[in-house]
Amino acid sequence: MVYIKKMLSAAGEDKESAAERIYQEERKTVNTLIAYASKKGFTYECAAALQQQINGKADLLDLAAVRKPDISGYNGVIIGGSIRASRLNRTVKRFCEMYAEELADKQAIGLFLCGLEKEKMQEYLHREFPQLLTEKAAAVSWLGGRMDLSQYNALTRWFLKRIMQEKDQEIKELIEVKPPGEAEEFLRKYHEVLNSRKA
Ligand SMILES: Cc1cc2nc3c(=O)[nH]c(=O)nc-3n(C[C@H](O)[C@H](O)[C@H](O)COP(=O)(O)O)c2cc1C
Repeated sequence: MVYIKKMLSAAGEDKESAAERIYQEERKTVNTLIAYASKKGFTYECAAALQQQINGKADLLDLAAVRKPDISGYNGVIIGGSIRASRLNRTVKRFCEMYAEELADKQAIGLFLCGLEKEKMQEYLHREFPQLLTEKAAAVSWLGGRMDLSQYNALTRWFLKRIMQEKDQEIKELIEVKPPGEAEEFLRKYHEVLNSRKA
């Protein structure tokens, strides 16, 4: 890489290509942390998909496995959690509250939720994450949800079916919702802010 750079400058690289080259090189040095917690894997899959699509480097952090993570080396942080019984996963909530000020100082933050009550997601997004973070966030999105009854024991299955009945929902073994294009839009907004605030 250094050799190619030297070759270009030796060959009298024009301003435009130099700017493009520097921009592309800087993009590679941007570091994102994607912190999530997931009980049954859907939130993890969303986090892993974002990691694949993101510009620059991104580390995945399972908040259930690390109690006091060091988030200091990251330019941006994306945080994801799921909703159960109308509340955000407790581990994610605690992380947001403990690190709110440090997170708010990042160049960009993104917040995403997983759940099945599509119509309530805007309310949950703004109620469950600290206001300091929702105000600062470059992107705040609902990325869908999944409920696979085969992953639960008999008692939980019975309980979940009862809830579906109460809500007049069709009882299905597997419900999966993924709003089309939402993850791409989430990352687009996140990158826009991250790139505009480059130190
Ligand atoms: C016991 C239970 C309660 C749930 N409660 C809600 C809820 O109140 N609102 C909602 O939108 N989704 C609810 N869900 C759906 C989950 O948010 C959804 O399954 C999500 O994708 C789970 O993410 P995970 O696979 O990362 O654990 C519930 C799921 C379970 C199993």
